[in-house]
Amino acid sequence: MQQLEGRVAVVTGGGSGIGAALARVCGAAGMRVALADVEADAVEGVAASMRDVGMQALSAVVDVRRREDLERLAERTYAEFGACDLLCNNAGVMLNRPLLETSAEDWEWTLSVNLWGVIHGLGVFLPRMKEQRREGHVVNVASIAGITNIGALGLGAYSTSKAAVVMLSEFLRTELETGGIPIGVSVVCPGAVATRIAESERNRPEGLGSGPTAAQAAADPNSAQVPGTQTPIEVAEAILEGVRENHAFILTHPEMKGGAEARSRRLLGAFDEAAAKSS
Ligand SMILES: NC(=O)c1ccc[n+]([C@@H]2O[C@H](COP(=O)([O-])OP(=O)(O)OC[C@H]3O[C@@H](n4cnc5c(N)ncnc54)[C@H](O)[C@@H]3O)[C@@H](O)[C@H]2O)c1
Repeated sequence: MQQLEGRVAVVTGGGSGIGAALARVCGAAGMRVALADVEADAVEGVAASMRDVGMQALSAVVDVRRREDLERLAERTYAEFGACDLLCNNAGVMLNRPLLETSAEDWEWTLSVNLWGVIHGLGVFLPRMKEQRREGHVVNVASIAGITNIGALGLGAYSTSKAAVVMLSEFLRTELETGGIPIGVSVVCPGAVATRIAESERNRPEGLGSGPTAAQAAADPNSAQVPGTQTPIEVAEAILEGVRENHAFILTHPEMKGGAEARSRRLLGAFDEAAAKSS
């Protein structure tokens, strides 16, 4: 989608990090932006700061685990801005816990935000976007952890949720292309970005268990500053460029290619072994 000025973007997780930066970059490109987040003050703070510099932005309190919240967001976005041309399913949480210690509640929280949040966003907005009968785009924010085993041992559940988002995005892109529907789909797979993702527990709902305390999380070696960490704005700019150029994958950390190569080699090697056995 080349022409962004005057169009409408919806960004979930817009109250912080990559989502807030994406909202600002969309606003700077002349888009009207609907920002959604579970953190009411944070998301209204970002929207207000955009309006202060002349951008058009609305904020809504939305829990992406709830389809009815996204329905309300869609109704409001269409009532106030008349469309959704760019849907950014960005809200996400990171659980840092070895798989052997991951509880059913840990899984439910991780999958309900990171995977069901995307499923609900698509389910609510895509039919409306299709009805607009004009060019549109979907951005799903996954992670490099969804395409390679990054070796951070606590990220099993997180990586599983992100791998599902990658496959969902690939299938959706093919399905829309095959159906002649002019809506592009990009999946974003960043490496480390300087955001509040390591403090995700702040948004874990009561009744879905609890994770490490802030002090435990800070002491975890995985939470140390990773070399190559990018700023949210760098990532947001790369995302918008990927939208303009309709890239299937938006990769922001090219130095992590080795992990993808190693995984591909293991996979192709397994095919070769299977072929050797069957010949
Ligand atoms: N920061 C990184 O290193 C990194 C790397 C790869 C991918 N990502 C992905 O980027 C996306 C954005 O995360 P971030 O790094 O900006 O973290 P962040 O914590 O700064 O922002 C995430 C936002 O999502 C919101 N959120 C959490 N649960 C929600 C829910 N149920 N409903 C609605 N909003 C909810 C939070 O309130 C927060 O504003 C996530 O999907 C994350 O997995 C981050």
